[in-house]
Amino acid sequence: MHLLLLGASGLVGSHVLKLALADPRVTSVTAPTRRPLPQHPRLSAPILDFDNLPQDPAVWAADAVICALGTTLKVAGSRERFYRIDHDYTVEIARLAKAGGAKSFVLNSAKGADVKSAIFYSRVKGETEKDVVALGFERTVLVRPGLIDGPRPEPRPAEQFFGSLLRLLKPVLPRSLQANRPETIARVMLDQAFSTVPGVTDISSDALV
Ligand SMILES: NC(=O)c1ccc[n+]([C@@H]2O[C@H](COP(=O)([O-])OP(=O)(O)OC[C@H]3O[C@@H](n4cnc5c(N)ncnc54)[C@H](OP(=O)(O)O)[C@@H]3O)[C@@H](O)[C@H]2O)c1
Repeated sequence: MHLLLLGASGLVGSHVLKLALADPRVTSVTAPTRRPLPQHPRLSAPILDFDNLPQDPAVWAADAVICALGTTLKVAGSRERFYRIDHDYTVEIARLAKAGGAKSFVLNSAKGADVKSAIFYSRVKGETEKDVVALGFERTVLVRPGLIDGPRPEPRPAEQFFGSLLRLLKPVLPRSLQANRPETIARVMLDQAFSTVPGVTDISSDALV
């Protein structure tokens, strides 16, 4: 399988990349990023300007796509920029990958994603899901983690505080309220990229514990 991976430099995406490159079923990986990735014989990692994505379908040719791209409102700096990155980049890449022949799209969305949500973040995630599903891949997988708990190079005080709290409370919390580890999300996403079950599949946070 030739895999197209978005967000390969991020917490979840870097785990997907590691697993994919170690998986004999994955013949090659294309991982467009905005900064260089360590080289690997089966990896092509073009540096792109995501505001000017190449339109040539050959660039995006793949059997399956895993998308773990996204930012935070704080880093984005405005709601408009957040929407541009989390929604527009994702949907535009999905459109290009569909034109390039991809059959499956596995999206790292978020718990609570809902077009009708009163919370801006959840609404953007819901709209992204809706617009990716509307592209009509043979198979779309919506993976919805709760808090993603793992080491990050940059400080995210709120996430780190709640991550520690949820780890402490884990023995008494139901699976649906527990944090999700990036390596578990990555494993599930890669497995889903190989599935041939048609239609739309939702994977909730309790299946990612
Ligand atoms: N954090 C949580 O608790 C949480 C919970 C539920 C769902 N999610 C969602 O899960 C997904 C993966 O999360 P994560 O924690 O792995 O994310 P992450 O570590 O922040 O990584 C995000 C990826 O997106 C890329 N990206 C961000 N802004 C970009 C831009 N302007 N242009 C090009 N690439 C850009 C990053 O590239 P750079 O390395 O170049 O920045 C990185 O590869 C995201 O969609 C996130 O919203 C997160």
